[in-house]
Amino acid sequence: RNVTMIGVPMDLGQNRRGVDMGPSAIRYAGVLERIRTLGYNIEDKGDIQVKKETLGNENIHNLSNLDPVTETNKSLARTVSSINKEGHFPLILGGDHSIAIGTIAGMSGYFDNLGVIWYDAHGDLNTADTSPSGNIHGMPLAVSLGLGHPTLTTINGDFPKIKPENVIIIGARELDEGEKDYIRQSGMNVYTMHEIDRLGMSEVMHQSINYLKDRCDGVHLSLDLDGLDPHDAPGVGTPVLGGLTYRESHLAMEMLAEAKMVTSAEFVEVNPILDEKNKTAEVAVALMGSLFGEKLK
Ligand code: ARG
Ligand code: MN
Ligand code: MN
Ligand code: MN
Repeated sequence: RNVTMIGVPMDLGQNRRGVDMGPSAIRYAGVLERIRTLGYNIEDKGDIQVKKETLGNENIHNLSNLDPVTETNKSLARTVSSINKEGHFPLILGGDHSIAIGTIAGMSGYFDNLGVIWYDAHGDLNTADTSPSGNIHGMPLAVSLGLGHPTLTTINGDFPKIKPENVIIIGARELDEGEKDYIRQSGMNVYTMHEIDRLGMSEVMHQSINYLKDRCDGVHLSLDLDGLDPHDAPGVGTPVLGGLTYRESHLAMEMLAEAKMVTSAEFVEVNPILDEKNKTAEVAVALMGSLFGEKLK
């Protein structure tokens, strides 16, 4: 029942300013109270320092801000690892999605088969060779699978942190060509909006939970707020129409809470500058409420 929360005010994995204020916006939306009320002992350890002093050579090899993104993820990985070692649940607030590199690297050492639920409009499966943008927030899932620049893939050890068969992508609707190629050849489980429309979120989560339950000893939830429709979560840097609704997302979180299988979580890409009031941070906090079992109380 111990949760340790960390903010990562990272905006160097993409090029819209403001996502570095995501952790503050989520705190102001009342995350501590929301989770404490559910009976958890939650502690806010503050923010990881984003290593902007290592800025320079801004885009070598189609990897923007490689050095500060690497350094920040190294310290995040160390922090997440120590939180998990203490037996606490790591709850990470972003920041752009490049921080999943550090979160997953920090968790992976404790599990033989860490499952990952990637709730996102995007696959984030690019490498420098396939990325249309050079933005590292489009690459963290690839990096965690051991694909991409060695500076990133060797953070917290020179081995793939997760296996493609232990990953489930939910909500995808904007995949680049290289990402589609990878999905086809790896056979990774992807529920695009098409499958979610056909099956319904209830069946998608039922299948996902049953699948991961049999094969994984832990599950990381990486929730990009742009997985939701921009109508419900407008404050994100790369919105894509036709996304998951507020209600579908709550159902997904409630089913994960019932399954009691999630061992770490991150909520990323909240950008207060692009938001309407603090709506997107408030949605993030509401979803955390469901993930931590509000309905079961
Ligand atoms: N696929 C695009 C890219 O590689 C967009 C990635 C968006 N990723 C995100 N975490 N919002 O640049
Ligand atoms: Mn303790
Ligand atoms: Mn996304
Ligand atoms: Mn993403």
